[in-house]
Amino acid sequence: MDRTIHPINRLSGSITPPGDKSISHRALMMGAIGNGTTTIIHCSPGKDIKSTQNCLKQLGIIIESEGEKIHVHGRGMRGLFPPQQALDAGNSGTTMRLLSGILAAQPFESTITGDTSLSKRPMNRIVDPLRQMHAQIDPRNGSYAPLHIHGGQLSSITYRTPVPSAQIKSAILLAGLYANGTTSVIEPSLSRDHTERMLPCFGIEVNRDCLEVSVEGPAQLQSADISVPGDISSAAFFIIAASLIGHSNLLLKNVGINPTRKGILDVLENMGGQISYQNKRESNNEPIADLLIKSSKLYGVSIEGILIPKVIDEIPLIAIAATQAKGKTMVRDAKELRVKETDRITSVATNLKKMGVKIDVFDDGFALTGPQKLHGTVIDSYGDHRIAMSFAIAGLIAEGKTTIQNAECAEISYPGFFETLEKMIDD
Ligand code: S3P
Repeated sequence: MDRTIHPINRLSGSITPPGDKSISHRALMMGAIGNGTTTIIHCSPGKDIKSTQNCLKQLGIIIESEGEKIHVHGRGMRGLFPPQQALDAGNSGTTMRLLSGILAAQPFESTITGDTSLSKRPMNRIVDPLRQMHAQIDPRNGSYAPLHIHGGQLSSITYRTPVPSAQIKSAILLAGLYANGTTSVIEPSLSRDHTERMLPCFGIEVNRDCLEVSVEGPAQLQSADISVPGDISSAAFFIIAASLIGHSNLLLKNVGINPTRKGILDVLENMGGQISYQNKRESNNEPIADLLIKSSKLYGVSIEGILIPKVIDEIPLIAIAATQAKGKTMVRDAKELRVKETDRITSVATNLKKMGVKIDVFDDGFALTGPQKLHGTVIDSYGDHRIAMSFAIAGLIAEGKTTIQNAECAEISYPGFFETLEKMIDD
C-alpha cells in the first residue's frame, strides 16, 4: 500500500507512543519461562511482537488479552512444549536471536524461520557463542535462518561480543540461565540494557561490572507485572518532525528514556533541539518521562563511537534531520546499519538522493552538509518499517508530494503511525 505525504506547517497536540518493542519481546519471553502468570500492560502492538507471541504459543504458552493487559501463563524454565511446526519469527531479529538462546537449552528439537529480510541477516553472531555453550544449532549456509536447533544441556561461558549488540548479549544471558555457573558477556561498548533491567523483576540477580554483565545458572524465574514504557524509537519520528517543522509544539507522553536508548534525544539536544523532560518516573527499573518538543534551528553534528548503539535505530531519522541542519553531519562507526531489516546506509542514501540530497556514503556511515531542499518523489521503503516512517517525516518538509511505497511495513513496530501523523497535522 502506498501513502502520500504533503508538506505541512505545524505539528501540535499530544501522542502516547506504542509500548516499547524491545521491552515487550523480553517481557513475553521471560513471562513464558517464568513460574506463574506474568501480566504485561501497554505491550507493543507491532507485528514483531505478534511474531514472538505466535512462537511462544507454538511452544505451549497460553497468552490472553484483557483490554490493555496481556497475561502470559508461564510454564517455568523447563515447561515449554516441542513445537509441531517451524517457529516463524517473521521480520523480527529480536524474536529469532533471543528465542534461540532459550530454545538451545530445551530438551527438544526446533526450527526457527523468518521472512526474506530476516533470512539474509547474520545469525552466526548468536550461533558461535551458543555453540561455545555446547548448543547444537545448524544455520542455513553457515549463518542464516532457518536455524535448526537440537536443544540440550548448556555450559556457562564468558563471551566477548565483537559488536555491541543487545540481541547477542540477551541470547547468551537467556541461555546462561539454563547453564551451570556464571555466564558473562563483555561488550565493546554498552548496548541497550533492557534484559539486565528486566531479569531482576523476574527474581533473577544480574551482576554488572563496567561492560561485563553476568547471570548465574541454573535459575528459576518468577512471574512479574510489567508496565511497558512508550517506545522512544516510535516517538522519535514525531520528536524529529516537531523539531524540524516551524511553530510545532508536541507532547509525547510516557516515553522510555533509558540511557542506552535515548541517544536520539542527546543527539537532538547537541544539534540545538528543544526538549523539555516532564514528570520523570520509573517503572520496572526503566526510566520514563513526558517530552515536550518545540521546533528549533538545528546544527550539524558528528555521531560516532559509543554513541552509535544508543541511537542505532534512529540513524535514518537523523539523516533526515541533518538535511535541515546548518553545517556538516557525519555518522561513522555504524556499519551495523548494513545488517538491519535492510542495509540502512544504502536505503537512506538512495532515497535521500532521489529527493535531491547530496550525501557522501562510507562503509560505516555517511556525511551530508545542510541545509538542503528535499523534493517530493516516490520513495521505496524496501519493506523496512523505519525507512517508511523516516521518509514520511521527510515528506512533511519536502516540496511537492512524497509517496511512500509499501508503507504498511510501518506495522512492524508502529500500527496506526500514518493515522496518528494525520491527526497531529495542524495546518
Ligand atoms: C534490539 C537490539 C538492536 C536493535 C533492534 C532491537 C533488541 O539490535 O537494532 O531493533 O531488542 O535487543 P542489535 O542487537 O543487533 O544491535
